[in-house]
Amino acid sequence: MEPILVTGAGGGTQGATGRLVTEMLLERGLPVRAFVRTDDERAARLRGLGAEVVTGDLREITSVLPALRGVRRAYFTYPVTEGLLTATAAFAAAARQEGLERVVAVSQLAADPYAGTPHMRRHWLAEQVLDRAEVGAVHLRAAVFFENIDFLAQAGGRRELPIPLGPPGTVVPLISGTDVARVGAGLLADPALDPGPVCRLTGQILTVAQIAEAYGAAGAPLEYLALSPEEWRRRARPLYGDDVAVEHLDHLWALFRAIGSQHELYEVTAAIEEFGGTKPQTLEEFAASRPRP
Ligand SMILES: NC(=O)c1ccc[n+]([C@@H]2O[C@H](COP(=O)([O-])OP(=O)(O)OC[C@H]3O[C@@H](n4cnc5c(N)ncnc54)[C@H](OP(=O)(O)O)[C@@H]3O)[C@@H](O)[C@H]2O)c1
Repeated sequence: MEPILVTGAGGGTQGATGRLVTEMLLERGLPVRAFVRTDDERAARLRGLGAEVVTGDLREITSVLPALRGVRRAYFTYPVTEGLLTATAAFAAAARQEGLERVVAVSQLAADPYAGTPHMRRHWLAEQVLDRAEVGAVHLRAAVFFENIDFLAQAGGRRELPIPLGPPGTVVPLISGTDVARVGAGLLADPALDPGPVCRLTGQILTVAQIAEAYGAAGAPLEYLALSPEEWRRRARPLYGDDVAVEHLDHLWALFRAIGSQHELYEVTAAIEEFGGTKPQTLEEFAASRPRP
């Protein structure tokens, strides 16, 4: 069988979905070509698990074309940073040239031409580019990753959750990176599964107060610290070190504050269990696996 190409396979801080997809496909005995940016210890670990590792920059067509040679199915993820549209264009062009039949691509829950954050609008454009390439694209429109919340818990010393979400009743649609990866791996392992071009993924819908409670129930108490947007921006720049990520999150928190508690997209989606094979992970389960203060 041809190898399945998985990008972001080293796994970063936003969800490590590429690393998880790689591991899940290898566990199923499927051949994986893991695309990494740097040939470091993470790449060595993937080799040890049985992956073929290729190194390159996703924004560079001379990296992407050879990586897709002989491939029929691929997982495409690119973190929230500069370069999403360049990377998507390179991937779409190469995938079309190589005749890919399924590309499972990570997008965001409310991707739309009029979405409330610039990066969500870029994700919608990225979806359009992949659709026009006719490579069997499935867009995983995922809710906020647990890992995103956990990153802030870490920044708050695992005692506070410093986040500008207004009143404790503000609602956040959530999912674990692991569930996104399970769905990705499921769809890549079995091309007969047909979620249609858009696959929405939300595993849990919690208020910010319930987010803090979930950590408490897992034995890692966390106090919600309702930052002002200005204070969050001041802290976020050194914390994330990435202007695109800060801009995106700044708009995202504002969107959640404005929505409050009710939105048509706020529902747990059946797709996680249908294509990922298990019920969605809960934040309490996730929090139990995180370091304690
Ligand atoms: N976080 C959230 O709350 C959330 C919610 C919904 C959707 N999403 C979507 O999830 C996606 C990100 O998730 P993820 O699990 O892939 O993030 P991640 O854990 O940060 O992993 C990103 C991977 O991409 C690699 N990478 C970065 N730039 C690259 C480049 N130019 N060329 C090659 N590889 C590159 C990184 O390598 P290095 O580590 O070596 O740099 C890393 O392995 C985004 O599309 C985002 O919009 C996120």
